[in-house]
Amino acid sequence: MRLWVKHARQVVRIVSDSDACREYLAGPAQKNCNLAILEEKDGIGLSVIIDRDGLIADIGYDDVMELKYKNQTIEEIIDATGRSVLPGLVDAHTHPVWAGDRVHEFSMKLAGATYMDIYEAGGGIHFTVNHTRNASEDELYGLLKQRLTRMLANGTVLVEGKSGYGLDAENEIKMLRVLERAKRELPIDISSTFCGAHAVPKNQTAEEATLNVLNEQLPKVMLMQENGELHVDSIDVFCEKGVFDVEQSRRILEAGRRAGLRLNFHADELTPINGTEMGASLGAEAMSHLEEISPEGIAAMAAKPSIAVILPTTAYLLRLKPPPVRQMITQGVPVALGSDFNPNAYCLSMPLVMNLACVMFRMTLPEALVAATINAAAALGKQKTHGSLEVGKYGDLLILNAPRWEHLVYQMGDNQQVIGQVIKRGRVIDRTVN
Ligand code: NIG
Ligand code: FE
Repeated sequence: MRLWVKHARQVVRIVSDSDACREYLAGPAQKNCNLAILEEKDGIGLSVIIDRDGLIADIGYDDVMELKYKNQTIEEIIDATGRSVLPGLVDAHTHPVWAGDRVHEFSMKLAGATYMDIYEAGGGIHFTVNHTRNASEDELYGLLKQRLTRMLANGTVLVEGKSGYGLDAENEIKMLRVLERAKRELPIDISSTFCGAHAVPKNQTAEEATLNVLNEQLPKVMLMQENGELHVDSIDVFCEKGVFDVEQSRRILEAGRRAGLRLNFHADELTPINGTEMGASLGAEAMSHLEEISPEGIAAMAAKPSIAVILPTTAYLLRLKPPPVRQMITQGVPVALGSDFNPNAYCLSMPLVMNLACVMFRMTLPEALVAATINAAAALGKQKTHGSLEVGKYGDLLILNAPRWEHLVYQMGDNQQVIGQVIKRGRVIDRTVN
């Protein structure tokens, strides 16, 4: 065996064998989730054992585990006396590859400029596109590596990463290649999303940009996918008034679907344009933001179901109307969380995202943990390997310097002290950023 974590005060499994659906939790199953927590009993703590392939081999009380595994060779033992163990977190929506920060826009926004004011004046995504196009793959990789290491330090073990600051075939592919390198070299799992339709380039109309995505970018990306040079899971579009309208978004998503990609896109963020209904009609696996979703959109997402990826940092920074998370949960939409890390929302911490979701959107602590583990994994199609502590899944764990998991969210903004160890596939991660 690779690793034995023993004597834990509690182990938060998220789901257990008795849960009807273990792939995501929706409606009452998310609302009333007990997180399948095992607690220390009569002074007997809990163990999690990870095998040499980095998969969870067993979970249970120390005394039972001692009997079962006493004759096995164990490479490493961690004493977790008095501490809580939970699955590594999943961040279901990020834009992590870019150069050129936008700290100057932060003060503009605080002074009252809206997101679209800045975008239309050539800032926002356009600013980042200029800097990202001018950056080399090596420069972008260096920046990405630091960011992903900081995400890991804050407990994220699987992250979705989008392209979308290239906006032409060459630069979108550059960004996707940088993500591929990170997959090979860094101990964090990444699900890549092609987002060539993230903005309309300055010299094009939205229709021209749509045709460029359909006829240039997507075919080139898919050719590299077929050659095994890229491994892209999903396609994304910024479906928004003044960016890509619902019909343009539909055409791009349909082409992505024909190419075999999952659909996971920005819908109904700033203006209510019924992007969600369109996404549900295509069977989109996930849709993000949803501040302006309609009641019909909620019903359509619940029917599939499509996973709602809620992004509290954006609503917080841009002072947007909160998305109707309570209605979504009540009506059976599985809710996931993402940091939306990007130059607008510079947040690398899922525990902070969970805190914002609880306070601003009235999620309960268990709902937020479900949203940052199994449901976020399901939004990325990775629920068979990530998002809960179950035998056979990846041995990706957080060991907290605290007796109950809620401290991860309650001790706001100081996550790296609360998290004692981040374990990825049975190995303790070095959290030094260099
Ligand atoms: O999810 N809304 C579009 N995309 C990002 C923002 C990207 C940016 O501003 O650079 C988002 O918030
Ligand atoms: Fe986004």
